[in-house]
Amino acid sequence: MKLAVTGKGGVGKTTVSALLARTLAARGRKVIAIDADPDSNLAACLGHPHPETVRPLIEWRELIEERTGVSPGTTGGMFRLNPFVADIPERYAVDVGGIKLLVVGAVKKGGSGCYCPENTLLRALISHLFMDAETALVLDMEAGIEHLSRGTLGSVDRLLMVVEPGRRSVETALRIQTMAFDIGLRQIGVVGNKVRSGQDADYLKEALPGLDFLGLLPFDDRIRAAEAAGRSAWGSSTEMERAVETLVDVLENTPKGKSGSDGPDDIRGKRE
Ligand SMILES: Nc1ncnc2c1ncn2[C@@H]1O[C@H](COP(=O)(O)OP(=O)(O)OP(=O)(O)O)[C@@H](O)[C@H]1O
Ligand SMILES: [Mg+2]
Repeated sequence: MKLAVTGKGGVGKTTVSALLARTLAARGRKVIAIDADPDSNLAACLGHPHPETVRPLIEWRELIEERTGVSPGTTGGMFRLNPFVADIPERYAVDVGGIKLLVVGAVKKGGSGCYCPENTLLRALISHLFMDAETALVLDMEAGIEHLSRGTLGSVDRLLMVVEPGRRSVETALRIQTMAFDIGLRQIGVVGNKVRSGQDADYLKEALPGLDFLGLLPFDDRIRAAEAAGRSAWGSSTEMERAVETLVDVLENTPKGKSGSDGPDDIRGKRE
């Protein structure tokens, strides 16, 4: 199971990633969580006591150079496009509550779609890590769509678009959906977050017709308070945890091949 969590800034991608990772781990899976947001904060959200001590992969210059053949910060040149990554979770991940966390860190040059050694390593991690049936990979992504590319997302099982009730979050979700179709990614699922009422839920479903809603997560001020205090999202709200359990049930029970939506054209049709 390889899940990439995306959506507009602030909708709850990191919160959802952390809770998914925790829930999957509690179900006995080996979980690898990758924080691919340059402005990383998944470690704190997972409950790491000293997130500032987690060294991002980008700072392992020797590792990047050894695997890609080129030193970080370099663009162009000849570097290996398929670096060996199988040992990276074991050797470089930090353990947070049984989850193996890898923090990528901020790539200095270009967007995340760029062909620089740092991104090549990230792409290889996402595509080539060996995944047995017991392993789950949760990828917490940067907000927006600029960094989304076939190289990074081509091998994910599902793109989870987190949306909150609100126009801008919905618009970003529609853009992400179009982009996902452009790169051939069909397994898209929507996770409604910060839902306060049935009206909120209806708003999202009406605004995103034809998309597969995998779960609705409640607004809970205890989640926000935990984040503000630098505490783990896990253990703050039983309602939220229950909703994430249901989401994981859906993820585990929906066959991989199932298309998440009818495609942007169908949706446009339905909206007219
Ligand atoms: N269900 C929820 N109820 C209440 N607050 C929430 C909920 N989910 C997330 N939040 C709060 O919303 C804020 C943004 O959440 P989070 O950092 O997970 O979003 P994000 O999409 O990862 O943001 P960014 O785009 O900056 O990476 C945080 O303060 C978080 O605690
Ligand atoms: Mg985030």
